[in-house]
Amino acid sequence: MGIETSCDETGVGIVRGHELLADAIASSVDEHARFGGVVPEVASRAHLEAMVPTVQRALDDAGVTLADLDGIAVTAGPGLAGALMVGVGAAKAYSIATGVPIYGVNHLSAHIAVDTLENGPIPEPAIGLLVSGGHSTIMMVEDLAGKVTQLGASIDDAAGEAFDKVARLLGLPFPGGPYIDRAAKEGDRRFVEFPRGLSAAKDQEHHRYDFSFSGLKTAVARWIEARRADGEDVPVNDVAAAFQEAVCDVLTRKAILAAKEHGVETILLGGGVAANSRLRALATERAEAAGLTLRYPRPKLCTDNGAMVAALGSHLVAAGVAPSVIDFPANSSMD
Ligand code: KG4
Ligand code: ZN
Repeated sequence: MGIETSCDETGVGIVRGHELLADAIASSVDEHARFGGVVPEVASRAHLEAMVPTVQRALDDAGVTLADLDGIAVTAGPGLAGALMVGVGAAKAYSIATGVPIYGVNHLSAHIAVDTLENGPIPEPAIGLLVSGGHSTIMMVEDLAGKVTQLGASIDDAAGEAFDKVARLLGLPFPGGPYIDRAAKEGDRRFVEFPRGLSAAKDQEHHRYDFSFSGLKTAVARWIEARRADGEDVPVNDVAAAFQEAVCDVLTRKAILAAKEHGVETILLGGGVAANSRLRALATERAEAAGLTLRYPRPKLCTDNGAMVAALGSHLVAAGVAPSVIDFPANSSMD
């Protein structure tokens, strides 16, 4: 069983080997929508209310009891401190009450591990491109059970954060990623050439695999302001498409560069933004041209869920990794 509470989804998944038996989820996203972003205190309270019923639902869906479990995995970090503590506390209580071993795991590794539920064991080494509301990282997966390191990350906003902020500028609802994805399908991605952060020659030495999206967001904001100042309408679909292209262009270019430069043949996409249709299409096109294998799970498994934590837990149990000592902390800045 895997428990996920790092942000606004209370997720409880149950897997056997690579088979997904249950993926129960309760989300507080609607409670955050009017604030235009996740409010930590609101998320923590919602996790507390949803925790036990969501565990029960997952057990019922899978047709198992707590005593049947080989392990309980829980996201120990990174994420919102208060939100993480709810999941970690609950997992420890279940573990102590049942004697089932506990595994405190990394949320980013779990986003990678979820792919095993759909596409089987991950060929190692692999490059993971993890893009969500909280992180945009290029990971080197040498060993999913132990050695997953970060090659680069966003130095400011995460990719999903940029999607959400630009959606807000365009008057689209929160969380904005899926709305931009939809609007962009009717737009022209070459309508404006928005900036590709950290792609200049001078950035290649220190920020080769890093991203920056705050300049892009500002560029979109300025463009919209100028248009409105001229008394003209903002073509939402075209701006959405051009913005999305700028994000997907840098993400895919740098992930492929990392794979080539490290002699890695497989790239995995994960995280909420990996549900983006243009990111999938462009990554597929470019990976094929570079002779690389690209893997990604279905959109529902890209966003936060319990199945991804269960998938990683299952991998750790199968790999014979020792369980965590029960007093491990929730670690909001875990890397
Ligand atoms: O992985 P996730 O559920 O939560 C975090 O760990 O952050 O990712 C949520 C993020 C949000 O910013 C949301 O707007 C974005 O993923 N997202 C998308 C799409 N679906 C979700 N971004 C672009 N295109 C999508 N289709
Ligand atoms: Zn996530």
